[in-house]
Amino acid sequence: MNESSKKSIQQALLSPCHQSTIRRWSARLDKCFTISDLQRLFEKRIPPVVGDYFLGGASDERTMEDNVAAFEQTRFAPHYGVSHQTIEMTTTIAGTDITMPIIAGPIGSLRTLWPKGEAVAAKAAGEAGTICTLSTLTGTRLEEVKAASPHDCWFQLYLVGGKDVAIKGIERAKRAGYSALVLTIDTPVAGLRYRDMRNGSAEAINGSIFQKLKFAPQMMRHLSWLTSFYHDGGLMEFPNIELPGGEPMPYADIGNQLQQSAVTWGDLEWIREVWQGPIIIKGIHTVHDALKATDAGAAAIVISNHGGRQLDRVLPTLQMLREIAPHMKGRSTEVLVDGGIRSGGDVAIALATGAKAVLIGRAYAFGLGAAGEAGVTAALSILKSELEHTMRQLGCGRLEDLNESHVLDYRP
Ligand SMILES: Cc1cc2nc3c(=O)[nH]c(=O)nc-3n(C[C@H](O)[C@H](O)[C@H](O)COP(=O)(O)O)c2cc1C
Repeated sequence: MNESSKKSIQQALLSPCHQSTIRRWSARLDKCFTISDLQRLFEKRIPPVVGDYFLGGASDERTMEDNVAAFEQTRFAPHYGVSHQTIEMTTTIAGTDITMPIIAGPIGSLRTLWPKGEAVAAKAAGEAGTICTLSTLTGTRLEEVKAASPHDCWFQLYLVGGKDVAIKGIERAKRAGYSALVLTIDTPVAGLRYRDMRNGSAEAINGSIFQKLKFAPQMMRHLSWLTSFYHDGGLMEFPNIELPGGEPMPYADIGNQLQQSAVTWGDLEWIREVWQGPIIIKGIHTVHDALKATDAGAAAIVISNHGGRQLDRVLPTLQMLREIAPHMKGRSTEVLVDGGIRSGGDVAIALATGAKAVLIGRAYAFGLGAAGEAGVTAALSILKSELEHTMRQLGCGRLEDLNESHVLDYRP
């Protein structure tokens, strides 16, 4: 993107049109008390051909649904008769202090939801005192995202474009001040996203004018999104993947690119040498891989099935956590989990089951798509206050007080 188009985007963000979008959608947050409320607002503002990418999962979406169901099937066992003046929710992950055990995970293409979506999300997360993780597959320059946040950010690395392109990305992230590198290992190939195939998203992106015309009716019903999208420059590029000629990777078929750039355990060595800082390995499903990551010196692991977007019919992450956490006791590698977290109660369950903190994905993407920065702030504030409420009910004043005795598996 050249200087003049950058300038015109900045002007667009300040434009009366975008300001009125911000006011209009932020006002609706008054009626959002839960993450599900934010999801409903997201679905009102975002056209289905765009929103489905965020709402959907792989194949039959069984794992995506199971992730949520596993939390829903868990019940609490409160320890009453205790009272805490204050609830202490601060913790430290990979050397960074955060005000709540909730981190914004890497989500690709956030810029399709809101102008400069990645920077807007990082600002909201940083102001809430937590980390935002920037995916490689995003539409805002990583330097600009880091500068928008008053807090630490993590950079999530894909090897798209090959080793030399990745090295450039790592070096840029280092220079920009990212404090940890997240290596996602569960994408040897892109997931089978039937929902996107059915809704024709490839045609919406790469199709002829006639193919694109078929989306006109849904665009007309989502004019507020459409005007923001065009004011922000239209279809994003990937400025965090600088091709050998220096130009950003176009928004092409990312599926093929991922297949040619699967991360292996062998890659860890050169990545560590270039990065020289904490590495977090995301996409751990088994005790075997958790121990492998620990032996490889990972600062933390993220037990994650990519929100059910990669291999369908793998276990829900809460079940993976139950199996892996006992093997990680006493080790310095920290245990994080994501997948299906939609309430502060879910966060409490994850911590009671052995996680030190959680990553959220769709929960904050719903907020961003619904109302931009104010929406992400709302998502984090909902989760934080629900977690505080749950901890008071359970009789836990500190995060470390949450343990297995507070949760029960429930089958009606
Ligand atoms: C639309 C979307 C895009 C995603 N893009 C990435 C990505 O680029 N890199 C990555 O490591 N994980 C990615 N993820 C996975 C998330 O980081 C996280 O593991 C997942 O969203 C957690 O599940 P949840 O959405 O149910 O909270 C993506 C998830 C979604 C929903």
